[in-house]
Amino acid sequence: MIAQETIRQILNHIDIVDIVGSFVKLKKRGANYLGLCPFHNEKTPSFTVSPSKEIYKCFGCGRSGNTVSFLMEHEKYSYVETLRWLANKYNIEIEETEASPELKLQQQVAESLYIINSYAQKYFSDILFNDDEGQNIGLSYLKERGFREAIIQKFQLGYCLEQRDAFAKKALASQFNNEYLQKSGLVVMRDDKPADNYRGRIIFPVHNQTGKVIGFGARIIKSNDKAPKYINTPENEIYIKSKILYGSYFARQAIDKNDECLLVEGYTDVISLHQAGIEHVVASGGTSLTQDQLRLIKKYTNNLTIIYDGDAAGIKAALRGLDMALEEGLNVKLVLIPDKEDPDSYVNKIGAAAFRDFVAANKKDFILFQLEVSLKEAGNDSSKKAAVVNQVAETIAKMNKIEDFTRQQDYVQQCAQLLGIEETGLHTLVNKFIREKISKEEFKSAQKNTPPAKLQQQPAEPGDLSDETFNLLFQDELQERAIVRVLLTYGAKQWAGEKTIADYIFEDEIDEEMFKNKKVAEVLKIYKEKNREGQQLSVADFAYFEDSEIVKLVIESTNHPYELSHRWNDEDRAHTINKAIWELKYEEFSSKVLYNKNAASEVFLYNVEDNYRDEADGVMVYLKLKKIKRLILLNEEDLKKPTSTAEEIKHFQEVHMHLKQMQIELGNRKGTIVYPF
Ligand code: UTP
Ligand code: MN
Repeated sequence: MIAQETIRQILNHIDIVDIVGSFVKLKKRGANYLGLCPFHNEKTPSFTVSPSKEIYKCFGCGRSGNTVSFLMEHEKYSYVETLRWLANKYNIEIEETEASPELKLQQQVAESLYIINSYAQKYFSDILFNDDEGQNIGLSYLKERGFREAIIQKFQLGYCLEQRDAFAKKALASQFNNEYLQKSGLVVMRDDKPADNYRGRIIFPVHNQTGKVIGFGARIIKSNDKAPKYINTPENEIYIKSKILYGSYFARQAIDKNDECLLVEGYTDVISLHQAGIEHVVASGGTSLTQDQLRLIKKYTNNLTIIYDGDAAGIKAALRGLDMALEEGLNVKLVLIPDKEDPDSYVNKIGAAAFRDFVAANKKDFILFQLEVSLKEAGNDSSKKAAVVNQVAETIAKMNKIEDFTRQQDYVQQCAQLLGIEETGLHTLVNKFIREKISKEEFKSAQKNTPPAKLQQQPAEPGDLSDETFNLLFQDELQERAIVRVLLTYGAKQWAGEKTIADYIFEDEIDEEMFKNKKVAEVLKIYKEKNREGQQLSVADFAYFEDSEIVKLVIESTNHPYELSHRWNDEDRAHTINKAIWELKYEEFSSKVLYNKNAASEVFLYNVEDNYRDEADGVMVYLKLKKIKRLILLNEEDLKKPTSTAEEIKHFQEVHMHLKQMQIELGNRKGTIVYPF
């Protein structure tokens, strides 16, 4: 691990303009620098770098961060890689700290496994190209399938001899440890003697993001009913199946360039497509995608195109990952390969150019595709069709990121058309699922030990859903971010007397459970602990957290191009603005604020510096309202208990009245406060 002192030194040296400026052409504009955003295509510059705040922000695509996150995002470095890159740039010697014994052991095992794998890969490749059996059986098989030598070498393919223990013997003679050899999966104990696990098989090394071999897939050559087609490395310190995407090392640059990632099932599909010049491709290994794999893809691109066999099993496998991919905010397209072929066989059959054309011409939108498939299945059965409507509404409701909102609206429109139903009706249904999802989550975090109460469902008026959905979806997120913003910007300022704003906010016990955004809860927790010692943290203290989600949250919360607030001493104006915002229809709001930020900021940008007390108050009102809402729900549960005596019921009703009164009073106060987004 890099020593804390070294990290401090590195961070002290950072000059954001210098670093970002070496990748982006920057021009000075007032106190800031301006350039063309490297993260999206644009003709007029909207990428700003602030040397004083040590952050960048693009007003076009919304990306923001600091020097470290810039390097992580732009160069795809890990946190540690970034630190090493910076240390090298500034000639800072890296001091490593002692790791804990367990960590040390784990690193030692991992290191040994890397060495064994690298040794084995070279050994198997050498056999493939230079040994008689390797050439006659392994290499000739690969060539028969159409793989040329250059691609075999690029993917470092190999061959394992049919002998019982040719590799094991050699590895043991080279002083490799038998225990680690078994851990690597290369060697197994047979009749108490070490034996090769992949005998007579083609070896496909699996590489991690940095190109190190972490494991192998070993394919049988002669098909055999008893033996599995592939034997894969068992899970160990470095081979963690749920995090592996085969081919990602060879694909990362092409994915960036194409802003798209193709997903296929198998090793040979990846290699054949590479050979055909299609390099932005990875494989899932035949199982459905995991969240870790989706996140890995999301690091490079938002566009995922799944290319699977067109048979029923292929379609099913593809559909399995859909919901999760949508929740991750990915744009999913599907291409189905016809005639019982897979991408490997199909590209070999029709050739590289025709294959590219085929993919381009047959990209289907995933949600619409799913809808078509289910509609076909349902036929004229009206109850089945109703189930399809429900299913599609639920799928659309899964898109829950703020930037997905327009997309969601588009889908409602297109799906309603395909289903032949009213758009507003589908809207209503989608919103119902969103509400259910949100209340479920709310209850999960708010009432761990209480059985969930049924939320009163307010029937949504057709045509009047956008505002409501907007509130449902984003109010909490924005409010929660406002708390982070208030604390980090004004936490140390005076509330009243000796009391700081932070003291005021933490005065009442804040239940971290009630935050939907767990990163907000984490920031508050860290802040609270420091505050107890009399220290108030600022943005800078979080700017170099290893958890990049926290860094992002902190920067986004404290740096919005459209800061909405009002002046305490200007009630009327505040009221007008406030009214304007609450009454704004989503479409208007969306176009003004989200897509035309300059216009929006003209309308809504206020000087917030001197309004910090209002903002703190606003945050507290929000927290209290949330608490009251929870109490009201608990109380309603009590009220509904069939076993209550008349006296108890009277008591519950009084509590209810009391809570409602508080809610109204607080709500009135909320009416005069506009929250900073
Ligand atoms: P396929 O059966 O489609 O194999 O499995 P393939 O990749 O097309 O291989 P070829 O073209 O017949 O040589 C797809 C993927 O599922 C995993 C492998 O990762 C394979 O590439 N798989 C398949 C296994 O792990 N074990 C198996 O027994 C079969
Ligand atoms: Mn195949």
